[in-house]
Amino acid sequence: MENRSQWGTRLGFLLAAIGSAVGLGNIWRFPATAFENGGGAFFVPYLFALLTAGIPLLIMEYTIGHKYRSSSPRSFSKISKGMEWIGWWQVLISFVISTYYPIIIAWSVMYAYFSLGTQWGDDPTGFFVGDFLNLADAGTFGSIVPAVMIPLLIIWVIVLFFLGRGVKKGIELANRIFIPTLFIVFLIIVIRAVTLPGAMEGLDAFFKPDWGRIADGSVWVAAYGQIFFSLSIAFAIMITYSSYLPKKSDITNNAFITGFANSSFELLAGIGVFAVLGFMAVQSNTAVSEVVAGGVGLAFMVFPEIISQMPASGFFGFLFFASLFLAGLSSMISISETYVAGLQEKFSISRGKAVVFGGGLALLVSLFYATQGGLNLLDTVDYFINNYGVALAGLFEVVAIAWFARSLKDLQNHADSVSDIKLGIWWRLCLGVITPLVLGYMMLENLRTEVSRPYEDYPIDFLFSFGWVVAIGAMFVGALLTIKKWPSKDNEA
Ligand code: ALA
Repeated sequence: MENRSQWGTRLGFLLAAIGSAVGLGNIWRFPATAFENGGGAFFVPYLFALLTAGIPLLIMEYTIGHKYRSSSPRSFSKISKGMEWIGWWQVLISFVISTYYPIIIAWSVMYAYFSLGTQWGDDPTGFFVGDFLNLADAGTFGSIVPAVMIPLLIIWVIVLFFLGRGVKKGIELANRIFIPTLFIVFLIIVIRAVTLPGAMEGLDAFFKPDWGRIADGSVWVAAYGQIFFSLSIAFAIMITYSSYLPKKSDITNNAFITGFANSSFELLAGIGVFAVLGFMAVQSNTAVSEVVAGGVGLAFMVFPEIISQMPASGFFGFLFFASLFLAGLSSMISISETYVAGLQEKFSISRGKAVVFGGGLALLVSLFYATQGGLNLLDTVDYFINNYGVALAGLFEVVAIAWFARSLKDLQNHADSVSDIKLGIWWRLCLGVITPLVLGYMMLENLRTEVSRPYEDYPIDFLFSFGWVVAIGAMFVGALLTIKKWPSKDNEA
């Protein structure tokens, strides 16, 4: 008898999968990545990456979860015993990400509050690194920053609460609330942004193609990196989520819907962000390229400065940080669900216990990022875990499935048996040939950059301990977890 937890409806699954994909990566990573990598011309490698790697891998992960109806490590072990460690490795990557991801959500909560009355004053950058974070040098942790720790703990309570309630009553419910709200809030922001004076200058800078960049390998690396992070691929998430699908579920269609919804949101974010950057450039009489920033700099330094100059600044600022909060929270739930499901099945424990052990451990580790040195730590771990965690695990995943287990045809038959759109040779070609080649090249290119210059010029020992050790450690701990045998009967989620 089938007693695995299931989504209540197809929409519930789609909202959860889109909620996982649409996250901080869409709002703060995509716009700057696109701009720095050729503007309008970036859409060519981006679309190529989406169609040859993003959606095909999503279809593959959905099929694995749906066919084997287990957490990611258990699903991989059912394909071939030797592949279990890839599943654990991906779970551990998600574990690492779940230790710093909620920090950014915590900052967003504080900044939603600071927006009311633009409390960052005339110098938002000084406020962020000084008054707010009290930033210490790289390698020094200093003391805990209560203004970060308190919202962090609240976020953990929310995340663990929804996870503890299970798939339908917890995860699905959370996404049913967060995702429609996020879309409405974000639409209001974008409409406001494009009607600001200077918006068109910003959009012009964003979309203007720099075709000269197309031949640059690093632009393609950036496109693939963005697609992987943004679609939550090789995070163990999509396998876990699709394992809760009912037997009769259209896999391929769901993957296309998730992929296109995520990219549409990404495009919307690019339009919104560049419209306000255009506004700022016109206000301060400079070029858009002078004001553009990515990641932390964009959200917590440049945006506050722009918000201060806008009419109804408090309201607009609040909505912007609220959207980061909503997008981040729904992704965070999915990231943590990977280890909840894995622990539950491996150690035959209840969901509640898995939430307390897995979530509790991640919570404790996340406190390190709530210290004065947290920002440098976050920046380093994020960089290494993405370049040598997510992308590398993605490479191992496709090579193992396509070339070692030779399961693509089998998975294709499974997907075709439940989906309207039938997969063709293109799907196997994308996964078996194109994606491994591009990801392999990406690895070499990344390593070449590393050797030529240490990331952000941080001290080498700092990069070693918190970059390399964490990224490679995830792989090793993943292998260790395979030593314990699976219980004879799966403990259902
Ligand atoms: N896919 C999630 C994001 O974009 C992890 O942030």
